[in-house]
Amino acid sequence: MREENGLNQHLPDELTGLRILVTGGAGFIGSEVTVQLCRRGSKVTVLDDFSSGKIEYISSHDDITVIRGDICDRDKVADAVKDQDVVVHLAALPFIPDSYYYPEEFFRVNAMGSINVVWQCIQSKSVERFVQVSSSEVYGTALYEPMNEKHPTLPHSTYAVSKLAADRAVFTMHKEHGYPVVIVRPFNSYGPRVTQPYIIPEIASQLLSGQDTLTLGNLDAVRDFTYVEDTARAIILASIEKRALGETINVGSGRGVSIRDLAILMAKILERTANIRIDRNRFRPYDVNRLICDSKQARERLNWTPTVPLEQGLRITLDWLRARPIGYRSPFLGWPRVYRSGRS
Ligand SMILES: NC(=O)c1ccc[n+]([C@@H]2O[C@H](COP(=O)([O-])OP(=O)(O)OC[C@H]3O[C@@H](n4cnc5c(N)ncnc54)[C@H](O)[C@@H]3O)[C@@H](O)[C@H]2O)c1
Repeated sequence: MREENGLNQHLPDELTGLRILVTGGAGFIGSEVTVQLCRRGSKVTVLDDFSSGKIEYISSHDDITVIRGDICDRDKVADAVKDQDVVVHLAALPFIPDSYYYPEEFFRVNAMGSINVVWQCIQSKSVERFVQVSSSEVYGTALYEPMNEKHPTLPHSTYAVSKLAADRAVFTMHKEHGYPVVIVRPFNSYGPRVTQPYIIPEIASQLLSGQDTLTLGNLDAVRDFTYVEDTARAIILASIEKRALGETINVGSGRGVSIRDLAILMAKILERTANIRIDRNRFRPYDVNRLICDSKQARERLNWTPTVPLEQGLRITLDWLRARPIGYRSPFLGWPRVYRSGRS
């Protein structure tokens, strides 16, 4: 198993015994952060409302303290951050199409919730560092490639605006209160323990259900896909590396892949032919065309480089998905369910 050979040897000793609160720690990226920290000997607390996250994603480690609650709940968050050394903040509503129909909810959780968490950290006087997990989506489509942290922020979706609002507030509070924060901007991540119908689980779901023809939207969109173990490691390094303080750091593989090429590659791994039908209903309004990461800052400040090539990561992901039914949980009713049918 990869998990046994894995990447944890690269994680520094100082994580051992460190008290770390992971918000959204039962989610897709959050559970990977939680599991890597546990293996490294950190004392992990997870704050999650389980709206998309799953307890079974973290239940293999029985030394995790789990707090079920909403990041917008002042008392709950104040209690959760008490006596922590570091807070890694991942809890969010992350699925872009949901944000077209629930803009207020996205702002409540992603913007106001983040402000609540960082503010409770400042008030606590014990939390020595706050890691804000942002998103490459705040940049909008690439004006130049690869995209570094100086790229203009021109968000296209309400999701991206809500994430950028949080980043700006966190950065301002860093300046106003001299409070140590790091903003990490992952590009698209993929891997096991999926929670949302992102493009890779969506293509996988269609391929694994045996459909002859894939039904997809914008095949020309280009994304930079990073295996979740690598993304999580960057986030963890951001929670201890001194050179990261006060910085915004992009995290991505640096390789741009179109959705068309991604589908062809995934079909090839499964020894299938990719017949693709374009469904205009699946086009996202005001979609981002291209996102490709310049990870120089991550290399210099976190000593981070991605280690898992796309083909290898896809094989692991497909194996994981093949072994179990995909079931998405959503706090929303109605339209987004179309995207959340999964196979279960
Ligand atoms: N997956 C990606 O490709 C990607 C890329 C860039 C940034 N991000 C960011 O990474 C973070 C994690 O995303 P993910 O893909 O793992 O999604 P996810 O849905 O798996 O994770 C979000 C977690 O937050 C929890 N949560 C949601 N609302 C909450 C609330 N009000 N209170 C407490 N917990 C709540 C969910 O239950 C879930 O466990 C998000 O901040 C997202 O914006 C993700």
